[in-house]
Amino acid sequence: MAARPHVVVAPAIAPEVLARLQAAFDVDAAGLQPLAARCAHADGLLVGPTERVDAALVAACPRLRIVASLAVGTNNIDLAACAQRGITVTNAPDVLTETTADLGLALLLAAARNLSTAERELRTGNWRGWAVGHHAGADVHGAVLGIVGMGRIGQAIARRAVHGFGMRLRYANRRELPPAVATPLGAQWRPLDALLQEADHVLLTVPYSATTHHLIGARELALMPPHATLVNLARGGVVDDAALACALRQGRLAGAALDVFEGEPRVHPELLTAPRCTLTPHIASASRATRTAMAALAADNLLAVLAGQAARTPVQP
Ligand code: GLV
Repeated sequence: MAARPHVVVAPAIAPEVLARLQAAFDVDAAGLQPLAARCAHADGLLVGPTERVDAALVAACPRLRIVASLAVGTNNIDLAACAQRGITVTNAPDVLTETTADLGLALLLAAARNLSTAERELRTGNWRGWAVGHHAGADVHGAVLGIVGMGRIGQAIARRAVHGFGMRLRYANRRELPPAVATPLGAQWRPLDALLQEADHVLLTVPYSATTHHLIGARELALMPPHATLVNLARGGVVDDAALACALRQGRLAGAALDVFEGEPRVHPELLTAPRCTLTPHIASASRATRTAMAALAADNLLAVLAGQAARTPVQP
């Protein structure tokens, strides 16, 4: 009997999904060694958004046929190195869109209304009572929202913002949206600089790549009016975190909220102490149902590809 394919599962996934993989494969789901050592005999690899699958790892895994990510972003995977070896890469689009958009709205509200700073004051016993200007933030309803990156997640946020909060929508994107999508949202395309100058709240959902590295740096932050807020739901590295901390500290920006960080799980120390800044540990897609659905889709891809079938959600190199 032929040996069952060997699959390495890097993140801890829902037991029911793991059981499906264990029924079909020889699974290493709890290895403590570095990924390269664990993958030496792997036919398949399941990763999250932060395990690095670089050219060195690919070279160390001669049998690898599929890298299945349970995330939608694939900037942690060297797609060219995988393509060169004929390794299929899959991601998990769609299943996390709505949950991620929910957190986008939570962060937008947190940034606009200074939730973290206000809560910290209360928890540390520094609340001196109700006062008119106390933590007075910016309105979200009716304000101008600028979304940078109008893919699936950007559009899901736009629907909530426009239909739920009556926000007026501007967006920056490589391509303009088709009228069938843009018109019901009243979405107006802007070049990035113009969007930064015009929006009351800016929300980033653009994928990370060499071209979006520090897309929002000191120059771009200086274009934003001082009453504006910034939300990074995209990837660490899309924002220059040090420049953002500096802008907050100098009062050049009213607030910010970030779910992703350059070099996470480290967070720039200046951001940790910056005022009017809400920080969450990369949890945008973290509802129980969605995290299970993401893992299930990655498992579906592994089961299909290692059975010689087409991947459900392949990523083009
Ligand atoms: C999470 O960050 C993802 O890319 O799915």
